[in-house]
Amino acid sequence: MRKILVTGAAGFIGSNFVRMVLSEHDDCFVVNLDKLTYAGNLGNLAGFLDHHNHKFVKGDICDGPLVEKIIDEHKIDSVVNFAAETHVDRSITGPKVFIETNVTGTLTLLEAARAKKLQRFVQLSTDEVYGSLGVEGKFTEQTPLSPNSPYSASKAAADHLVKAFGHTWGLKWNITRCSNNYGEYQFPEKMIPLMINNALNDKELPVYGDGLNVRDWVYVYDHCTAIWKVLTEAEAGEIYNIGGCNEKTNLEVVGLILERLGKPKSLIKHVTDRPGHDRRYAIDSSKIVEQLSWQPSVTFEEGINKTIDWYLQNQEWLRNVTSGEYKKYYDSMYSGR
Ligand code: NAD
Ligand code: TYD
Repeated sequence: MRKILVTGAAGFIGSNFVRMVLSEHDDCFVVNLDKLTYAGNLGNLAGFLDHHNHKFVKGDICDGPLVEKIIDEHKIDSVVNFAAETHVDRSITGPKVFIETNVTGTLTLLEAARAKKLQRFVQLSTDEVYGSLGVEGKFTEQTPLSPNSPYSASKAAADHLVKAFGHTWGLKWNITRCSNNYGEYQFPEKMIPLMINNALNDKELPVYGDGLNVRDWVYVYDHCTAIWKVLTEAEAGEIYNIGGCNEKTNLEVVGLILERLGKPKSLIKHVTDRPGHDRRYAIDSSKIVEQLSWQPSVTFEEGINKTIDWYLQNQEWLRNVTSGEYKKYYDSMYSGR
């Protein structure tokens, strides 16, 4: 029986990963360590919280003694580190917590993995560590790191630490660098669920700048199957880019959402741009496709339809996560912009 510590699995991608593992792999026990920040929500694990192969622990990845206790108590063999502060806009208004969780938290997990001689440490990184592209080209695993936001700088720092633990102490690691995810249970601070939520409520859709920034969208389930392949099939010390070959401008994505929901384009409002806004991300995924036979299961059009359907069918979830703190966040970020 594989026994993995999955951190941050009450968040968007981590909860999708845990649901996939528990549904598709009987031979894997998951301990889910999550601090339940504003982005973490046990509702994301509805139906799976009490699964016999799942144990939830509320706690901070910066808490070394807790991490070591979990590893001992559950005979953990590997860590998959999803836990992070993840929103670029929040990293611009308050970068400190990004360093605490993304850098110090990753360091704490690495120290525990080294002390307990774990078999594998999988770090969820991001394509944003590579910086921004011009109109041509794609990020490969060889692209030099050139992060532009406090978020991506903190993720790049964590990548360097992971590699340093391998180089210095022989820790067995992998790093995945995925492009923008979309899908079920994504918190509506990120572009796609924010636009769906606003459109459903006939509110303006705040498009930053000219709306021509490009992101390469991956359906969250496909990202999760890629992570599973890396955890179970990859050689240690390998980095894998993960992308869906779905480059779209933000205006194209917003247009699709409005069309699908039958709402008018007049809801689009161009607002002041994000400072330092990366223009274009695009991923070359050929390494994971060739070495691990990974393939995305859906096209962008299929994935976005499934996603919109899910938000339509889960409006209570949306109402829960957009009450309270979210309203204050939204006003501070968007009012008068
Ligand atoms: P998310 O913000 O939805 O969830 C993050 C989770 O981490 C939350 O459940 C939160 O409670 C938890 N957390 C935060 N600080 C913690 C701490 N100190 N200790 C324990 N738990 C803590 O994030 P996501 O979108 O699911 O992203 C997961 C990972 O994937 C991140 O490492 C992110 O950098 C990476 N990533 C995300 C994307 C994307 O498009 N969302 C793309 C590429 C990579
Ligand atoms: P986001 O979902 O925050 O992901 P990231 O910045 O990590 O790529 O943003 C995706 C794109 O959408 C990015 O170019 C910024 C843009 N955006 C908007 O235009 N309006 C918004 O309200 C948000 C949240 C993002």
